[in-house]
Amino acid sequence: MATPTRPALNTLGAMTASHWESVHSTKGADVSWRQTADQVWIDLVDDLALDPAAPVVDVGSGSSLFVDALVGAGFRDVTAVDVSAAALASLRSRVGDSAHLVVSDVLEFVSPRPVRLWHDRAVFHFLVDPADQSRYARNLHASLSPDGHAIIATFAPEGPETCSGLPVQRWAADDIAAALGLTLVRSESRVHTTPWESTQPFTIAVLRP
Ligand SMILES: C[S@@+](CC[C@H](N)C(=O)[O-])C[C@H]1O[C@@H](n2cnc3c(N)ncnc32)[C@H](O)[C@@H]1O
Repeated sequence: MATPTRPALNTLGAMTASHWESVHSTKGADVSWRQTADQVWIDLVDDLALDPAAPVVDVGSGSSLFVDALVGAGFRDVTAVDVSAAALASLRSRVGDSAHLVVSDVLEFVSPRPVRLWHDRAVFHFLVDPADQSRYARNLHASLSPDGHAIIATFAPEGPETCSGLPVQRWAADDIAAALGLTLVRSESRVHTTPWESTQPFTIAVLRP
């Protein structure tokens, strides 16, 4: 009997895109990970004291208000990457041309110019296959400036086992650093309160090459 094999990356990518396009098209802002403007974790970026001209990328941005907060803070070179065109259309309706919007699987995305900040809230944790985690790490390294930082937020070890009906890997900050081959400069635990008042513990890792 043939050994079951993992679907090819382009097949998985198509499944990922179709799942997320459906989620964004049908649910809009009515999703568990939604942060209201006062919940957005922009303080993490403030603490890095970046030049507003610094290239910043938010991968798996969805239609998050985080991008609005970056633009509002004066960042002039913001790129939001998401596999869902519907999510980015929603973002476009708010931020217009103030950010570059790129429809792409994060496993296919390398920034065309070195970024000073790579931000990921709740995308890396969907990569439960070590091969995908390695691919993500390669793209991150290829995108990040030598003096750049990455902020990676995932469900914490005591957090939910699924998100949007998909399995996730729950992480401690040290393990994120090891998986991505980066140096941990700060770690935090934060709790996200969903729109229906349940709580989700997150790990946040601030990393540098
Ligand atoms: C849980 S939501 C988080 C959205 C946003 N970062 C936030 O904090 O509100 C995950 C987002 O990642 C996107 N996504 C999932 N897998 C992706 C992938 N492989 N490449 C790019 N985007 C992806 C989804 O469309 C969705 O917008």
